[in-house]
Amino acid sequence: MARNVVISGGGTGIGLAAAREFAAEGDRVLLLGRRAEVLEKAGVPGVLTYAADLSDPAGVRGVADFVARELGAVDVLIHSAGGSGQLEPQPDDEDPLEAVAHQWTVNFRLNVLTAALLTEALKERLAEPGGRVLFLSSIAAYRGSGSGAYGAAKAALHPYAHDLARQLGPRGITVNVVAPGYIEDTEFFGGRMDEARRERLVGETSTGRAGTPGDVAATLHWLASPGAGHITSQVVQVNGGAERGH
Ligand SMILES: NC(=O)c1ccc[n+]([C@@H]2O[C@H](COP(=O)([O-])OP(=O)(O)OC[C@H]3O[C@@H](n4cnc5c(N)ncnc54)[C@H](OP(=O)(O)O)[C@@H]3O)[C@@H](O)[C@H]2O)c1
Repeated sequence: MARNVVISGGGTGIGLAAAREFAAEGDRVLLLGRRAEVLEKAGVPGVLTYAADLSDPAGVRGVADFVARELGAVDVLIHSAGGSGQLEPQPDDEDPLEAVAHQWTVNFRLNVLTAALLTEALKERLAEPGGRVLFLSSIAAYRGSGSGAYGAAKAALHPYAHDLARQLGPRGITVNVVAPGYIEDTEFFGGRMDEARRERLVGETSTGRAGTPGDVAATLHWLASPGAGHITSQVVQVNGGAERGH
């Protein structure tokens, strides 16, 4: 039976790959993101789109109204919206502490608030039994990625997912987290991935290759399947073994 699937950050990268995977099964998919033109050009046949800043309660209220009108129930909720903040507008202020405050605030908004606000807004619409909530964390939650702000924001999703799994479990809803390593062909690095860094990241894997959006989408699809109904409150790493290192 066709399911209703809501995907934040669905216009690009991992979210878009997931959208293609679910749409190919005949599911009804709603793509969310801030840039309407990116969502419209996503090129997934039959999808609905709604543009909103999901770190803003007013934007999320608009999504909830749209979902109520167009979908009713939500079978699968995937939170792929996020980022390290590098692509966001940078502050003019050169004060070093202002820069730190900006970086931590932006990472919290992009990765935590987007996921928490959208979850809370749609929680009562999740299909029961059978509903699925899936968060996107990162290898950075385990080992950092530079400033600490991005990894800390992603790590914040883990206890939120555990609390939510306890809360929603009695309704037959599972909640899991997928934590990718380096994934190519996304907008995440904003074209700033140089060859030496790429080689280093690929070199950390046991598989000897970069991850693809399809690798993560397939894992999300599996966790959303009926067969994964007894898997909840888990963090599944998709990184070719990179977190363990050599
Ligand atoms: N690529 C990697 O190597 C990697 C590794 C580990 C984890 N991840 C995580 O995987 C998820 C997907 O990232 P990706 O690699 O597919 O990168 P991506 O292509 O940059 O996708 C992120 C998406 O989030 C949307 N977004 C960002 N802020 C938003 C907001 N406030 N409200 C609504 N939408 C927002 C962006 O669209 P708009 O700008 O139009 O809003 C974009 O479509 C992210 O959470 C990322 O942190 C990625």
